[in-house]
Formats: sequence, structure tokens, C-alpha cells
Amino acid sequence: MPSLLHIDSSPRRESVSRQISAEFADTWRGTRPDGAYTYRDLAAEPVPHIDPPQIEIMHRLERQGVRDLDEARGIPASPEEKASWEVTWPLVEELLAADTIVLGVPMYNFSVPSTFKAWFDRVLVPPLITDPATGRGPLSGKRVVVASARGGAYGPGTPRHDSDHQEPYLKAALGMIGLAADLTFLHAEMTKSAHVPRLAQFKDLAAESRREAVDGARKLASA
Ligand SMILES: Cc1cc2nc3c(=O)[nH]c(=O)nc-3n(C[C@H](O)[C@H](O)[C@H](O)COP(=O)(O)O)c2cc1C
Repeated sequence: MPSLLHIDSSPRRESVSRQISAEFADTWRGTRPDGAYTYRDLAAEPVPHIDPPQIEIMHRLERQGVRDLDEARGIPASPEEKASWEVTWPLVEELLAADTIVLGVPMYNFSVPSTFKAWFDRVLVPPLITDPATGRGPLSGKRVVVASARGGAYGPGTPRHDSDHQEPYLKAALGMIGLAADLTFLHAEMTKSAHVPRLAQFKDLAAESRREAVDGARKLASA
């Protein structure tokens, strides 16, 4: 059965990244009525920051070279570790269960929102990291779509291109766990033209960029 994991991280009601990720999810669900669908809203229900017990678990997993997921699930030793792992492991299982993942991720201070980062710090556990010998891991083969919104423009040739730490970060971080092989970015840019007077001249550009991203989401989801 096909399965979609849909994650949003913008706290805004009028969020553009949410609009793009929703277009993807609605189309995906419309074309796969039997598919399984899981939604996680990191803004409404933030994942708690990684804590000392999880870091202790991660060190143990690394020290012992644990790659088996069942073994990793059962590794907590103390009540504190169990409590922390009970927060993390369902997030890991959501990733494992999905064959397609759509991530709504705005650009915040040239990177990603802290809610998204907190989720990622929890979920990137050692057994999910690709095996250096094969380049593959338990999440390899999944399709990932990033629905992104940015106040400015960061494409090649723009003055701010080198300040884009959102797409390169996501490529590197998702790549660690085998999720960069089939990874597509849909960027809606210049969203600040809606409320910053000096950027009002770019409203048409913003509308076009948003339309392209939403159309791209629809096409990708129906493919
Ligand atoms: C805390 C914060 C930091 C932001 N940092 C940037 C930035 O570094 N570069 C940028 O182009 N836009 C930045 N923006 C603007 C957002 O990227 C833009 O409003 C985007 O549309 C937000 O996504 P959303 O529409 O899904 O909420 C920032 C917005 C906020 C609230």
C-alpha cells in the first residue's frame, strides 16, 4: 500500500509552504484513495529538543555499531532513556513506514525553522545513517519533496545565492539517511513582497514562483 508522510513546520495560517505541501498531499491522496496518510504539524505540536538521555543512547548505538532497528528500539537502559526514546522512536517509525515524504519547510534566517531542526535532531538516529560500504540505509529508495517558501530570492545569479543554507543543509542532512537520492525542492520565492513595501515591485514574480511551486507539487504527486 502506498504511504505518505506529510510534515509542516510553518506556524503561519497563510503559510505558502503549507499551501504547497497541502497541494502535494491532496493530489497524492486523491490519486491513491487506498494509500496510508500520516500528518505531523511541527509548529502546532513541536518535538522536544534532543536531551541527554537520547544523546547517551546515540553514543551507545555508535559505540556498539548497532544497525539493526529492532535492537536499537530496545536499547534504552534507564527510565530517563526509555522516556526520551518513547518520544523519538514513533518519529523514526513514521519515516520508515512512508514511501513518500513531503516536508513543508520555510526559510528562516537562511536555514530552516528551529521546530524542523528539533525534529531532525531527534530522528536522525545512527541506524538510519547510510552504510558507508553500500551508500544505502533503511530509508533508501523513498521519494522526498520539500515544499519551501522564502521571503527573498536565492536562485543562481541572485545576490543572496550564497546565503542559501536551507537547500544545501536539507540536501546534506537528508543525504545522511539516504533521503537525497530522489529529492525535489519546490521553492516559492519573494513571499515578502506581500508585506514589505520596497519589495512590492516583485509581487508578480512572487505570484509566478508560487504558482510554479504549487503546479509542480500537483504534477509530482500525480506522477
Ligand atoms: C523568523 C523568520 C526568519 C526568516 N528568515 C528569512 C530569511 O533568512 N530569508 C528569507 O528570504 N526569508 C526569511 N523569512 C521570510 C520567510 O521565509 C517567508 O515569510 C516565508 O513565506 C515563510 O514561509 P511560510 O509562508 O510557509 O510561513 C523569515 C521569516 C521569519 C518569520
